[in-house]
Amino acid sequence: MEQTLVLVKPDGVQRGLIGETIRRLERRGLRLIAAKFQIVDRELAEKHYAIHKGKPFYDGLIDYITSAPVMAMVWEGPGAIAAVRQTMGATRPTEAQTGSIRHDFALEIGRNLTHASDGQETAKVEIELWFQERELIQWSRDTDRWIFENV
Ligand code: RTP
Ligand code: MG
Repeated sequence: MEQTLVLVKPDGVQRGLIGETIRRLERRGLRLIAAKFQIVDRELAEKHYAIHKGKPFYDGLIDYITSAPVMAMVWEGPGAIAAVRQTMGATRPTEAQTGSIRHDFALEIGRNLTHASDGQETAKVEIELWFQERELIQWSRDTDRWIFENV
């Protein structure tokens, strides 16, 4: 089953949008398998955003993600990576689809509330960065067969 890392970033936490984010992902049918509320130190932030090192927005991005606690989660389901990114909406909130989290709650790219892995390799690396193997809970829901075509 495909897995993806989701963060409710500091602005999402400060604005009370942890529940809203979880609600939308649960309602979508995705299955939560790990969650951790934590402060992000610079080392973790720099590893997580290593791909953006050297870009003009990099320093601001590191300051942003380390500025307050984040809610880190792993969600799974068929096509989970694409499904979650669709639920979040485009990186720039003014380009996000109507009804997405970033459309509904954000205005600026540097305060876009959430993170979601952007591909299978990234998801694997990010999940290993944020969670230990034993923190990933393997479980089945009674509703799985009504949401997943192949359980
Ligand atoms: P994320 O990684 O946070 O899920 O966002 P994303 O894939 O949609 O966007 P990405 O290109 O990976 O950028 C990571 C985060 O950096 C900030 N950003 N600012 N000022 C800018 O031009 C700019 N570009 C990116 C955003 O917070 C974005 O989510
Ligand atoms: Mg990204």
